[in-house]
Amino acid sequence: MSAKNDSVLRTFTVAFLICLVCAVVVATAAVMLRPVQEVNKLLDKQVNILMAAGLYSEGMDVQKAFESIERRFVDLRSGEYVEMPESYEQRRAAKDPATSVRLDSKVDIASIRNQAKVAEVYLAKDESGELSKIILPIHGYGLWSTLYGFLALEPDVNTIAGLGFYEHAETPGLGGEVDNPKWKGIWPGKKLFNEQDELAISVIKGTVDSSAADAQHKVDGLAGATLTTNGLNNLVRFWMGENGFGPYLDELKANTAAEQYPADESVAAPADGEEVSNG
Ligand SMILES: Cc1cc2nc3c(=O)[nH]c(=O)nc-3n(C[C@H](O)[C@H](O)[C@H](O)COP(=O)(O)O)c2cc1C
Repeated sequence: MSAKNDSVLRTFTVAFLICLVCAVVVATAAVMLRPVQEVNKLLDKQVNILMAAGLYSEGMDVQKAFESIERRFVDLRSGEYVEMPESYEQRRAAKDPATSVRLDSKVDIASIRNQAKVAEVYLAKDESGELSKIILPIHGYGLWSTLYGFLALEPDVNTIAGLGFYEHAETPGLGGEVDNPKWKGIWPGKKLFNEQDELAISVIKGTVDSSAADAQHKVDGLAGATLTTNGLNNLVRFWMGENGFGPYLDELKANTAAEQYPADESVAAPADGEEVSNG
């Protein structure tokens, strides 16, 4: 090799050019793959929503199945539906002080700190267009991480249809058992509220005594993972409680009751000038 080829300047020039080419290749790939990543992210979210609701089966057309699922937005304080742009993302909103609230530590049992003011909810409809599942995003701190998932309810706004987490960093075999289908299988059929309409669901340490009167409100904890179990209990109770979806669930219950027991027209307020008949 000649002395000219071996010069320090030449070595730096070659290294610089290699870095530049690599940077251009990586940046181009990142930009070009972004739309694909977005589509995959959405697909993954849709699969998780369907799974939580027990509507997923291997090999199904997820996009087609999602045609019968409506995404709505809920003001968490009032429990009422609000209009938001399609691009709205609850997780992103939770990070922005303008679209979130800082929770008081006394109520923040799920340790989420900032809560988006508006939540995304998913309403699955059956073939006749009737509401079949209410799918709610939930999250909260376990031992090592914040667990993100969905909890699905039956239209009675009390019976759990399913639960699943799509993101967490709990230890496989311990807290990571939240992903175990056997454990997830315990949830369907459990009831959120007791006969006094108080929030009664809890995840307990150990195994539930199936003969106990309140067994329908209790879920087995994860073996050897009491801290993750406590986190799960807290996050489910937080999101189903008054500082989470409580006001929205109250609205849904009121609507369900109104549909089941519509106002009797024979006792409706009389129109102006109409005689009130007692007979
Ligand atoms: C490496 C390692 C990872 C652990 N991961 C978890 C976990 O993901 N979730 C959890 O609750 N406990 C985890 N633990 C155990 C906790 O430190 C704690 O001992 C446990 O939650 C107590 O639960 P137990 O009373 O059911 O034994 C882990 C422990 C070790 C050493």
